[in-house]
Amino acid sequence: MLELRNVSLNFNGGDGAGIEVLRGVNLQLERGKLYAITGPNGGGKTSLAKVVMGIYTPSQGQVLLDGEDITGLSISERARRGIAYAFQHPPRFKGLTVADIMKIARPDLDSVHMRGYLRDVGLCPEDYLERDLGPGLSGGEIKRIEVAQLLARDAEVTIFDEPEAGVDLWTIQKLLAIIVKRYKGNRQGLAVIITHNEQFLPACDEIILIDEGTVQGQGPAQMMWPLLRDDIVCKQRAQCVGIGGRIDGI
Ligand SMILES: Nc1ncnc2c1ncn2[C@@H]1O[C@H](COP(=O)(O)OP(=O)(O)OP(=O)(O)O)[C@@H](O)[C@H]1O
Ligand SMILES: [Mg+2]
Repeated sequence: MLELRNVSLNFNGGDGAGIEVLRGVNLQLERGKLYAITGPNGGGKTSLAKVVMGIYTPSQGQVLLDGEDITGLSISERARRGIAYAFQHPPRFKGLTVADIMKIARPDLDSVHMRGYLRDVGLCPEDYLERDLGPGLSGGEIKRIEVAQLLARDAEVTIFDEPEAGVDLWTIQKLLAIIVKRYKGNRQGLAVIITHNEQFLPACDEIILIDEGTVQGQGPAQMMWPLLRDDIVCKQRAQCVGIGGRIDGI
């Protein structure tokens, strides 16, 4: 349904040298599945999501939606085609209320459903609907409001960029349950969660590992998760005994 063909992304490093952020990424994502994208900081996960959303233009390669090449389409055109992205660091819209932004996400949203989506992310609608989206809301509250917006959008391709970041432990479990229930096995579309979270990763259908701008591995979560978990534990042990990530001999 969503395909990336040989996608590369370069930025100008400022000193004339280019920075290669994505290098020949090939991915095929199917309808009805919940995908996790994970990997080290700076590996290119957010950049990949921004290429899909049209925020970044790839220097090479194509993005296809249901077989159609959408590489040249604008962000708003892609949104109309059913691609939605929740930012890792959501922007704050001072002067707009939570109710306003929910209506922007879905203009035909009625009050009952709007309240339901806020409750889904652990926010009491009575306390939040008229709150301003400026600096008065905490980082975790802003993240949860953005997830509520995406749930309301009900897009065909939904990408959550670290939805758990800054969110308290009690709400993470709630977010995970609602995302799994909504997207796993739902043939209307697909969802991608960019995450480092040990609860989210094994709950997805497939895990894609991105590092240094390339896909280093992809497979069913029941196969990928034990390998990743062991690798994380190994690296933690290596750091603990002071050999900074070198895992041989452990
Ligand atoms: N607009 C930009 N201009 C220059 N470099 C950029 C830009 N956006 C991203 N990068 C660089 O691309 C690399 C990948 O960044 P990206 O945000 O995609 O990583 P990530 O995998 O999402 O990391 P994290 O886990 O920390 O969120 C980083 O080295 C980053 O500095
Ligand atoms: Mg990121």
